Amino acid sequence: MKTKQSLTTVKELSVGGVAKRTGVAISAIHFYEVKGLITSRRNQGNQRRYTHDVLRRIAIIKVAQKMGVSLQEIAAAFKALPRQRTPTKKDWDSLSRQWKESLDVKIRLLTHLRDDLSECIGCGCLSIDSCPLRNPDDVLSSKGSGPILFQ
Ligand code: FES
Repeated sequence: MKTKQSLTTVKELSVGGVAKRTGVAISAIHFYEVKGLITSRRNQGNQRRYTHDVLRRIAIIKVAQKMGVSLQEIAAAFKALPRQRTPTKKDWDSLSRQWKESLDVKIRLLTHLRDDLSECIGCGCLSIDSCPLRNPDDVLSSKGSGPILFQ
């Protein structure tokens, strides 16, 4: 026989309940489900019902999105967990470290891009030879002009 406490523990949430608890729009919750980030079951009235672990998943999704992590990357991280379980505190530690490294790389790239943009402000040449934004990966420019690879 289940106690009142255990019945409360297994109580599921409606999509409106999830939206209210997470501050995420119902449409976004449906979208996360379509993308495989969260799951629900249907009750007898064909309404979605979510277990409470969905709140943690959505919290992680929101934080990761703020860091610029794509939904695709988040889904891959969730799928990499054993039995695709909801991330534990230890899992979150690992994910957040991994995403911090990715964020550091993005910050370095954006800082470099900002510095290049500073050279362009007030110029307007958009030269393939000299504009760092127009041809940022021109690694062959140091070897001379023209079709270096075909000489
Ligand atoms: S626009 Fe002239 S250097 Fe980029």
